[in-house]
Amino acid sequence: MAHIRPFRAGDEPALADICLRTADSGADATGLLDDDDLWAEIFVLPYVARHPDLAFVVESDDGRVVGYIVSAPDTAAFEEWFRAEWWPRHSARWPRPPAERSRQDGILQYAYGRGRADVPYSAQYPAHLHIDLLPEAQGQGWGRRLIDMLVAELQGRGVPGLHLVATADNAGALSFYPRVGFTPLPSSAGVQAFGRALA
Ligand SMILES: CC(C)(COP(=O)(O)OP(=O)(O)OC[C@H]1O[C@@H](n2cnc3c(N)ncnc32)[C@H](O)[C@@H]1OP(=O)(O)O)[C@@H](O)C(=O)NCCC(=O)NCCS
Repeated sequence: MAHIRPFRAGDEPALADICLRTADSGADATGLLDDDDLWAEIFVLPYVARHPDLAFVVESDDGRVVGYIVSAPDTAAFEEWFRAEWWPRHSARWPRPPAERSRQDGILQYAYGRGRADVPYSAQYPAHLHIDLLPEAQGQGWGRRLIDMLVAELQGRGVPGLHLVATADNAGALSFYPRVGFTPLPSSAGVQAFGRALA
């Protein structure tokens, strides 16, 4: 039976693969950048490195990991850790681009900028999340169950709110979050943020 279980060490390659295969506004991002590995090093692996106890996975009938939710309970602290400790490990492999000439340059500039500016939304909604399911696992209630699981865990720790930022052209995500308790927040061009109070 497919089920949700806590993240465990060794799941990282499966999480990186799911991240890549859903990173282009919900669609497969394979081959979009010069280096497919970059997505996971920014959007999923730092979370399970820093907060493995706030990550849950969907395991299929045949024992494969087909989806995940990861989170940081204190976004400002997480961004600071990302800047000071996580990203420097990657700066030799992916140097800072001098200008934004490609999509990869834009993503690298985002990574280099993390922890260097005020974090929007974090006063009211200190935690943030990333959730991704392979197409085979979508539309069966796993997304809602993963959100419920994370919300219960964060509530147990007294975290007052949770947010996330989706790309504005991710139609599936824009439909999903309001159905699972999130409210749209004022957002920059090209993205749509959502928040949910947990008190
Ligand atoms: C977005 C995503 C996490 C939703 O998870 P899911 O398991 O497919 O969604 P669920 O089956 O739990 O659906 C929960 C509710 O959202 C709605 N919903 C989910 N996906 C939807 C879609 N693509 N279009 C319209 N409604 C959708 C469902 O109808 C359901 O509503 P209801 O319970 O009121 O009937 C998942 O589809 C996914 O991983 N997509 C690709 C990666 C991605 O875009 N991640 C988010 C990045 S911000």
